[in-house]
Formats: sequence, C-alpha cells, structure tokens
Amino acid sequence: MNKEVKGRGGCYRAVITGYGSFAPAKKLTNEELAKMVDTSDEWITTRTGIKVRHITTEDETTAYLATEAAKRALVEAKLDAGEVELIIVATITPEMVFPSTASFVQRSLQARKAWVFDLAAACSGFVYGVSIVQQFIEGGRVKNAIVIGAETLTKITNWSDRTSCILFGDGAGAVVLERAEDGRKGVIYSTMSSDGDRWEALNCQAYGSLHPPDKELDDPKKIYMEIKGREVYQQAVRRIIETVMECLEWCGVTIDDIAMVISHQMNARIIESAAKRLKLPNEKVFLNIAEYGNTSAASVPIAFDECARSGKIKRGDIIIFVAFGAGLTWGANVIEF
Ligand code: UT7
Repeated sequence: MNKEVKGRGGCYRAVITGYGSFAPAKKLTNEELAKMVDTSDEWITTRTGIKVRHITTEDETTAYLATEAAKRALVEAKLDAGEVELIIVATITPEMVFPSTASFVQRSLQARKAWVFDLAAACSGFVYGVSIVQQFIEGGRVKNAIVIGAETLTKITNWSDRTSCILFGDGAGAVVLERAEDGRKGVIYSTMSSDGDRWEALNCQAYGSLHPPDKELDDPKKIYMEIKGREVYQQAVRRIIETVMECLEWCGVTIDDIAMVISHQMNARIIESAAKRLKLPNEKVFLNIAEYGNTSAASVPIAFDECARSGKIKRGDIIIFVAFGAGLTWGANVIEF
C-alpha cells in the first residue's frame, strides 16, 4: 500500500516473524452436545456459527497446548528457543494458581534467557500481550518475545448448562515478535480498554482469594464459567465497532486499506453484526469459529495462524486484531504483516 500509515511507535518496530497454533485432537460436535443437554445443531449453528470444538483430555494441560503452539511459531520465525527474551502466556485457565503457565512453557522450550509471566485479560489477553510486547520492543527492552494465547476452557465448563457449554473449546496460538530496524512497520498501533463494573457478565468465581478452597462455596456452580450471554453480546458488538473505528482514525486509514480484520471468535453473529456496521466486506472478516468455538485468549492467534498459512493475508498487508471478553476487557492491534 502507498498510503502513509500513522500510529505511534519508537525507533524500533515490533514485527511478527512467526506464528503457530495447536488444538487437541479430540472433538465434540453439536450433535454430540445435543445428547448431553437440551439443544440442537440447528440452534447452535444459527445462534453462534459453531459446529464443533476441540476438547482436551485429562493429560492435555494449558502449558502443553501453549508449548506446542510456541514451538510452531519458533520454527516459522527460524528463532532458537534459547534466544527468546520474553514469554507471555495469556490465559484464564492456567496450569495452576502459581507458578505461571509461562514458567512451564519456558521449561518445556528450554528458553533459558527469557523472563516470563501470565496475563489474565480473558478473551482480550492475546491482544493485550501483543500491545505489551510492542512497548518492550519499541522501548529497546527486549529484542524478541513470544505471545501465546492458550486455554483449556472445557475444564471449567458446566456441561449441564446449555447456555454456556455450547460455546467454548480448547486450543492455543502463538506469535513471535522481533525487533526490526529495516523499515518494516510491524505493530503500528495498539489500544486496550476495560470496564470492571461489568465483571459479573462473564466470570468463574472459585479458585481465588474470594472463595478459598477450604471454604465451602455458597453455590457449587461457582467452579464453572458463568455468562450473561445477552449482555456480553450487546457490549461485544458495541466495543468491537468502537475499537476498530479508533484504530482506523489513529492510523489515518479506511476500511479500504485494511486487508483483514481478525476478531476474537466469540459468536459469528457478533462478528458479522459488527462487520456490517463497519461496512467491512465479507472477504475482509476471518471466521473459523465453526471449527473451534470460543477459545478465549487463543482464538485470535489461532485465527491469525490459519489466515496466514492459507494465504488469505500476505506480507505487507495491514491487518487488525480485535478482541473482547471478561473483565470486561477489549482491545486491538493494527499490524503491517
Ligand atoms: O468471548 C466472550 C464470551 N462470549 C459470550 O459470552 C457469548 C456472547 N453471547 C452469545 O453468544 C449469545 O448471547 C448466546 C449464544 C450465548 C445466546 O444467544 P441469544 O440469541 O442471545 O439467546 P438468548 O440467551 O436470548 O436465549 C434465547 C432462547 C432462550 O429461551 P426462551 O427464554 O426464549 O424460551 C434460551 O433459554 O434460547 C434458549 N437457549 C437455548 N436453546 C437451545 C439458550 N441456550 C440454548 C441452547 N439450545 N444451547
């Protein structure tokens, strides 16, 4: 593209050099779900766009999925794990309370130079992570980093609650970001927002200091995810539109300059409704929710990996990652791929 794309950034730029994803082999179809709760393939498909989701076995943990995705991204980047300086794992289904899931990933990758931490921003976690790495690379603090979104949501799913169990799946996606000084723009702009007043819209209350494990829960369902679907739906459409508009304005571009919007895959209807209001043509909206369901922090990097590998985006294209989720949280990254 010829147009000068604005945005903010220091003397270094953070470019994506590698991407990868991993999903457990086991799948659960809508038809199988309809045998577990009062639902149907027709209802799930028309209301969400989901057909099937990947499900971890007992042995498949968040750190395992994260490590597999990271390995693929490192291969693509041609970067040795021993050279990695920072690993961020965005997740709300961590390996354990502590240490961080990122510590386990570091160990598995033998990324001995890296400092590591987890990021709990739910479905926006990966986008927040890219934004944080952008700052560290632009500021000269690190030369490279891996951002991973990894979730095992089906381990905290209430399989008797038809309003939530149809939505979620497991998986992981990762990107390698590296410092570039050769004119490539990489991450052009990032934005992050939150609204803690709406924390109840999406939550899982057990496991933390509010409900310590030695105290009996007043409601045993608090060990599972709980969602207020309608509220989340309306907020998601509104915030995605606002955030993409902000990105366009900041970067001085229009929809015509954007090759692809890669949204968090929470519900095909939410994404299509936001896209319609943004006047985004179908070919600029990537959807893979049919195959994965909602994988929270993993969904944007999984979608990005599929998009890049299938050739739907090419180097030099301007793309937007946008996400919305529990917190509430939302955010976006504008990237010259
Ligand atoms: O990443 C952020 C997290 N994502 C989300 O939280 C998802 C956001 N919300 C959504 O995707 C949608 O709100 C849902 C897919 C969860 C629900 O779709 P909806 O169109 O908002 O349905 P609704 O909640 O308004 O429910 C409509 C009807 C209700 O029945 P009545 O009251 O009209 O008789 C529900 O009981 O559909 C019923 N229903 C179901 N029926 C069959 C709810 N879940 C199901 C189901 N199968 N699985």
